[in-house]
Amino acid sequence: MLYIAPSLLAADFSDLKGEISRMEDAGANYLHLDVMDGHFVPNISYGAGVVADIRRHTNMIFDVHLMISDPLRYADSFIKAGADIITFHYEAVNNPMAVFKAIKEREIPCGIAISPKTSVEAVLPFVGLADMILVMTVEPGFGGQSFMPECLDKVRVLRREALKMGINLNIEVDGGINAENAAYCTEAGANVLVAGSSLFKTKKPRTVMSAMREAAKEHPFIG
Ligand code: DX5
Ligand code: ZN
Repeated sequence: MLYIAPSLLAADFSDLKGEISRMEDAGANYLHLDVMDGHFVPNISYGAGVVADIRRHTNMIFDVHLMISDPLRYADSFIKAGADIITFHYEAVNNPMAVFKAIKEREIPCGIAISPKTSVEAVLPFVGLADMILVMTVEPGFGGQSFMPECLDKVRVLRREALKMGINLNIEVDGGINAENAAYCTEAGANVLVAGSSLFKTKKPRTVMSAMREAAKEHPFIG
């Protein structure tokens, strides 16, 4: 099944409630929440307070993408705010496995993300453990950047590995995704598509989502 996760970063922040229901009505599965600390990435977005406030207005699955230097320090506040899954960056911490285990101890699904320069081998040990692996298709930090198709090789390796292990792994891609390149993502093995600009900056997000679902149907994993 394909999950579509609009990234709130591209929303009109003067009307978050309206923007979220626009995505919900258009058929989104997750709400992707990009948390940036101005340290791990050169941009600042929003924190747990905003997440808690929007939580009161939707039942969508909150897919929290932590682009912060000390994810463990803030994990509890995002869990309390209503996160449904917490994903942190491999590059942000000294011991990703220890951080992963510590977050899982909180009994919340946990994902691990890799930036374009990080090799897929870094996250292979997480294939049987993580609830999701996020392969960035742009450098983390900003919305509206161009999709990097070369990152999809990592998705292919992960999907093959998961299939070999008999695991139904959620593989998420994030950055520059639109109706045109969705097919490349799904045929590489991704099943969670994050999309900011292509969904929020259109008046017809439902049409874009339908095109993405169609692409997934016509272009399943090709091995
Ligand atoms: C980038 C963020 C992405 C971004 C996606 O650092 O993690 O989630 O907001 O936005 P678009 O689809 O506009 O690239
Ligand atoms: Zn993101």
